[in-house]
Amino acid sequence: MVAETRLRTDDLIAPLFVREGIDEPQPIASLPGVMQHTRSSLRDEVRQLRDLGIPGVILFGVPAAKDANGSGAWDPDGIVQMALRDLRDDFGDDLAFVADLCVDEYTDHGHCGVLDGHGSVDNDATLELYARIAVAQAAAGADIIAPSGMMDGQVGAIRAALDGSGFEHLPIMAYSAKYASALYGPFRDAVDVTITGGGDRKGYQQDYANAREALEEIRLDIAEGADIVMVKPALSYLDIISRARAEIDRPIAAYHVSGEYAMVKAAAERGWIDGPAVALEQLTAVKRAGADLILTYFARELAELL
Ligand code: PBG
Repeated sequence: MVAETRLRTDDLIAPLFVREGIDEPQPIASLPGVMQHTRSSLRDEVRQLRDLGIPGVILFGVPAAKDANGSGAWDPDGIVQMALRDLRDDFGDDLAFVADLCVDEYTDHGHCGVLDGHGSVDNDATLELYARIAVAQAAAGADIIAPSGMMDGQVGAIRAALDGSGFEHLPIMAYSAKYASALYGPFRDAVDVTITGGGDRKGYQQDYANAREALEEIRLDIAEGADIVMVKPALSYLDIISRARAEIDRPIAAYHVSGEYAMVKAAAERGWIDGPAVALEQLTAVKRAGADLILTYFARELAELL
């Protein structure tokens, strides 16, 4: 009766992977219970999530072939665009289709942007690609565009591209405070990404030593037109969620990432913790800190539990 926070199914967004060129869904060893879907198994999965009351899904594509610029990301027949059209056909407006916008799943070097002659990410050249991806995703039926590459100016560039193509109404969920975290490992298995030369994303993602900088990133994204701002990962950054909640009046999303999920699953498999109980405790804490929306691989499990 006096509980201040209650986690509900309609707080949750399920991340889903769809892979080009496979006939059967493929399990992901480091993400137990999560699959690389075929177009057809994705439709089945979304139907079940919809029936459980999950209000939205976020889609990540795994293309059959990768190249230097990540062209599969904006190809109208790229895997995510095809999947968006399938889902829109099947489910209309029953749930929100969020399109993650980045090129790392599509580039052969695994970075979130195109590289310059020295092997560094070229921020401004990347913005042109992001604009094309946003329009392709919008045309395929995305409800929300979610840029995750942490390029400077990405929200403004995407907003302008959407507005210029008749998609003024589409909101942007910006991965605004995305940290250069060691917790993304299982996700990179899920999308077959290895950053060449043992590289990392510290040039564009945030330093986990910094909090004020995250607030500045969030304010910049809102000034460029972000409608929803995200903090990622979630549990090690509850202070950031809480500070953002105090300062910002936009909806705040938090991404409970692959490594956070995998740790709970691995310990639960060994019988060391009660997995569902820990998941509920952790995700309630994320909501208590101030998140309005939570992206989590536990979405289905929690929806079955709640
Ligand atoms: C980048 C992207 C990443 C995640 C979502 N979008 C990985 C990265 O930045 O390397 C991670 C999500 C997770 O770990 O669950 N396109």
